[in-house]
Amino acid sequence: MENLIEPYKIKSLEPIYWTSREERKEILKKAHLNLFFISSKNVIIDLLTDSGTGAMSANQWASLMNADESYAGSKSFDLFEQTVQEITGFKHVIPTHQGRSAERILLSQFKQNGEYIVSNTLFDTTRANSEDYGFKVLDIPCPEFFKDDEVHPFKGNIDLIALEKTLKEKSVALVILTITNNSAGAQPVSLENIKETKKLCQKYFVPLCLDACRFSENAWFIKKRESGFSKKTIKEIVKTSFDCADLTFVSAKKDGLSHIGGFLCVRESTLSENCKNRLILTEGFPTYGGLAGRDLEAVALGLREVLEESYLKHRIDSTAYLHQQLLEGGFPVLSPPGGHAVYIDAKKLLAHLPVSSYPGQALVSSLYEYAGIRTCEIGSVMFGKTLENGKEIYHNKELVRLCLPRRVYTKSHLNYVSNSLISFKEKELDKIRGIKIVKSSPFLRHFSSHFDWI
Ligand code: F0G
Repeated sequence: MENLIEPYKIKSLEPIYWTSREERKEILKKAHLNLFFISSKNVIIDLLTDSGTGAMSANQWASLMNADESYAGSKSFDLFEQTVQEITGFKHVIPTHQGRSAERILLSQFKQNGEYIVSNTLFDTTRANSEDYGFKVLDIPCPEFFKDDEVHPFKGNIDLIALEKTLKEKSVALVILTITNNSAGAQPVSLENIKETKKLCQKYFVPLCLDACRFSENAWFIKKRESGFSKKTIKEIVKTSFDCADLTFVSAKKDGLSHIGGFLCVRESTLSENCKNRLILTEGFPTYGGLAGRDLEAVALGLREVLEESYLKHRIDSTAYLHQQLLEGGFPVLSPPGGHAVYIDAKKLLAHLPVSSYPGQALVSSLYEYAGIRTCEIGSVMFGKTLENGKEIYHNKELVRLCLPRRVYTKSHLNYVSNSLISFKEKELDKIRGIKIVKSSPFLRHFSSHFDWI
């Protein structure tokens, strides 16, 4: 990690504005302790998400001028389609404005096929869309994910034993593998696990879908951690992973290295036709799917740049560097480090707070107030729910995600984050109070809820 050097030079820049702690206290209060309501100008380091927040390359920016904005038959779509076909091996490529619209269109086609959507862990939008269509959802991450002290190389895997039992006993419409497993610590999924999942899906006649937002980061881990892959190129590993899937949807805001965009891919023409019919209702004509021609150009280039090993090495090393700093500073972080983010176990860090007082949200708010760092709760605010009888269901982990935008922050920004967090831990931890939900919404409540200190 001593050679953590950015494999790029900075050509264009954005200022960071400084705020005082007193100012941030006021800002936080006005935002009802919900960091999604805070203006980015009031954030010093923004680790809320890696979605659409990356820096585009000079080549991507240059490609925007060459884009073809024709409504139908745009040349930019041809480039986009050919690139996705080449990288994924899928024949039918359908563009969408972002990942969740791709998943919604795809899920709509499986409503009659079964009762359950089963996954290593569904992301929040996929879960909400599935439930909105009336599916029951079942997450079965591998047992190693819950063993905090165990360093397992692929904690993002699905539990194959539980999967077979589920496929045998329940009516399953679709199995979705999220690579990397965002809601489970950005942990990678091994190719062996993808292949075994495929075999089980074939045995029980259930399609396998990859939620492949971070397909290239996942391939990097396979190359580095799984035996037999060190000499394969990232492109080969990516292709082999996609070969196992019957369907895929991708948010291009992650490994598409773009600010907007997404796509879904299928192998059968009838399914493709049906998806396109729905696409026209909500996203637009199938040669732009809610995107401008310039977005299609940027994604087509981003999908190639993301396969570069120098880029991936720096990306994954940066996450590992921040993880190492926090580990040495005594933070309970999920280990080994995953792809796009470092996850702090808020239940362990704030052991004096019961789960009912949302330790993850308390930590997120406190870190913002202390150091102007915006992070995201991945715990019971995001995944819990209030039942009709008022009973609260809590999530299995209370995590705080420090998510690294792509090609945006340097090592000194990461040092600011780790130094601030360590000083926060030394000075303030015992004073942190719990949080209560004051106002909630039926879907994706982390985006819009209001909170207050208890
Ligand atoms: N699937 C996964 C695994 C994701 O991480 C996301 C988005 C989506 C689907 C939906 O894609 O945002 O383009 O509609 N994740 C972002 C995040 C929002 O912060 O992790 P989208």
